[in-house]
Formats: sequence, structure tokens, C-alpha cells
Amino acid sequence: MKIVIPGGTGQVGTVLRRALTAAGHEVVVLSRRPSGPGEVGWDGRTPGAWAGELDGSDVVINLAGRSVSCRYTPANLKAMMDSRVESARVVGEAIGVAVRPPKVWLQMSTATVYAHRHDAPNDEDTGVIGGAEPDVPGYWGYSVDIATAWEAELEKADTPHTRKVALRSAMVMSPDRGGVFDVLSRLARLGLGGPVAGGAQYVSWIHDRDFVRAVEFLVARDDLAGPVNLAAPEPLPQRTFMRALRSAWGVPVGLPATKWMAELGALALRSDTELLLKSRRVVPGRLLAAGFAFDHPQWPEAADALVRRARESRRRP
Ligand SMILES: NC(=O)c1ccc[n+]([C@@H]2O[C@H](COP(=O)([O-])OP(=O)(O)OC[C@H]3O[C@@H](n4cnc5c(N)ncnc54)[C@H](OP(=O)(O)O)[C@@H]3O)[C@@H](O)[C@H]2O)c1
Repeated sequence: MKIVIPGGTGQVGTVLRRALTAAGHEVVVLSRRPSGPGEVGWDGRTPGAWAGELDGSDVVINLAGRSVSCRYTPANLKAMMDSRVESARVVGEAIGVAVRPPKVWLQMSTATVYAHRHDAPNDEDTGVIGGAEPDVPGYWGYSVDIATAWEAELEKADTPHTRKVALRSAMVMSPDRGGVFDVLSRLARLGLGGPVAGGAQYVSWIHDRDFVRAVEFLVARDDLAGPVNLAAPEPLPQRTFMRALRSAWGVPVGLPATKWMAELGALALRSDTELLLKSRRVVPGRLLAAGFAFDHPQWPEAADALVRRARESRRRP
């Protein structure tokens, strides 16, 4: 198949591109700074010659969006919103006018669309969309607004010959440098991977190979459209999650951090505490109902497997 990945130069794009190319597909990445074969330029906002890549392709997987690992200042929040809404809109317009439109458009969304909660897991049917929780900082609602506006662009797009799926993905865990697993692993190895603010908040995650398999499954299954949660079936509290990660690296201790320490750390890393403190308890209701079987359903085993791969890739020259 020909698969076009707008925004495919980042962490998730690297995972998908590697796997889909290895599986024998032709992969074209749209980037604002194309470099090398297989990359085509676009600006993520306006129509252009790039649209020719979508015309006649089989699958489009749009990942474009300003990184969420930043301080949630008004300017950054606006850039996070605009880059997602505008790129989804222009991808939809390009598919809408294509002579040979792709059969499926997978649009990245996020598991962050669900409410901060501990009491029960969120699936697609019974999950609570966030934004109205009484006990969280007001600006957390903006991440939910971004996700809903992003999905609204997908829904609104007039693409009658193209099936549309919103990927409500949890954190994709791959051993690549700079990804979320790498960052959490560094903290764990420094002895800093303890509970944050008590550690009761849930962490939802998905192993990179299950992420790729779920994408392939959603491409193949013509009967699935709309929002789909991409998360391992067993999210777990942050303190348990980090304990398993420490154990996978053979690190016996992890210093706990209070909310204020987390705030200082996030400031130093130019990131935001919402990424650490929001309870994301998200389960893959539709994938499981459709018969998808996870290769890595449980975090302790998945963490061991990821640590093994990280060690192997570091040993390679
Ligand atoms: N990583 C995860 O675990 C995870 C989980 C759930 C959802 N997501 C979402 O999935 C998407 C991909 O995640 P990722 O971790 O691969 O993100 P990433 O590493 O930040 O990559 C996103 C890509 O989007 C492009 N981009 C950045 N700013 C843009 C802008 N203003 N306009 C158009 N394109 C822009 C960049 O490509 P160029 O610079 O080459 O143009 C960048 O490589 C993101 O939207 C993210 O929010 C990620």
C-alpha cells in the first residue's frame, strides 16, 4: 500500500514509518522541513503540491501537531490547538478533492480527551469526556478542548469515499531516544522514578509494537470508524507503573516527589505537570470488542521487553 503520514517525522511517526516500511509498504512523510527520500514538504495549513501524494494513496495517518511537551503558556496552547486543527482541516480538504481518495484516514487524537478520574476506566461508549472536573486546574480543560476540536475537524470533513478513524492514543512506549519511555527511563535510572504527588493517578500506555499492530488492524477492518482508544487494557497507578519500570532497569529505589517538586522539575524540563498529574484511565473497549489481541497487555512485561530493546540498541555501534 501507499501510506502517507503528515507529521511523520516525530516519535510516533518514526515508530510507524520503520514498521510500515519493513512490512513492504511505500511510506511518504509530509514535513515542514523535508530531508531525504520519502519526505515531501508542506506547511500543515494550506493546500499545495503535497496533496498529490494523498491522491491515489491507500491510507493517510495524520500525526501533525506542535509537541505537547512544553509549558502550557497561552501562546503554546494556541500553537498546540492551531497546528492540530489546521493540519486536520487541510488534510480533509485534500482528501475531499482527490480524484482517487484513500480508503481510510486515521487521524491522531489523544487519550487525554477523557476526564481526570480514578474510579473507573474510560472506554469509547461509557467514558467521560474531560473539561468539567471540579478538582483540577482550569487550564487542563484546554487539552480536552484541543482534542475535541481536532476530532471535530475529522468529523466535519467531507470525504464520502474515505473511512475516518480518530486514534485516541495513550503514550506510545518505544525505546527510541527522546521518546516518553526514554525520558521516564532516565528518571528511573537516576533514582528519581518514585511516586509523584502520591502516585494514585493512572497511567495509560501502549507498547509501540501493539500501536503499529492496532493501526494495521484499523486499516484492515472496514467496519470500524469513529473514535478508537489505543491503550493497553491494564492502565495502572503511576506509583505502580514507575515501580515496574525501575524493576525492569534493576534500580531498587525511586525518590518520591511532591506536587511542588514536580512543578519545579517540569519547569526545569520546560514541560507541564498536567502530563504527570492527570489521571488517564483509558481502556481499549472497541479494539477488544473487535477481536484485537494485545501482544503486550501488561506493563511489567512490556517494560522488561522495552528495556531489553533499549539496551540492545545502545550496544549497537
Ligand atoms: N507520543 C505519544 O505517545 C502520543 C500519544 C498520544 C497522542 N500523540 C499525538 O500524536 C501526534 C504525534 O506524536 P509525536 O510524539 O510523534 O509528536 P512529535 O514528535 O512532536 O511529532 C509531531 C510532528 O508534527 C509536526 N509539527 C510540529 N509542529 C507543527 C505545526 N505547527 N504544524 C504542522 N506540523 C507540525 C512535526 O513535523 P515537522 O517538523 O517535520 O513538520 C513533528 O515531527 C501528536 O499530535 C501528539 O499529540 C502522541
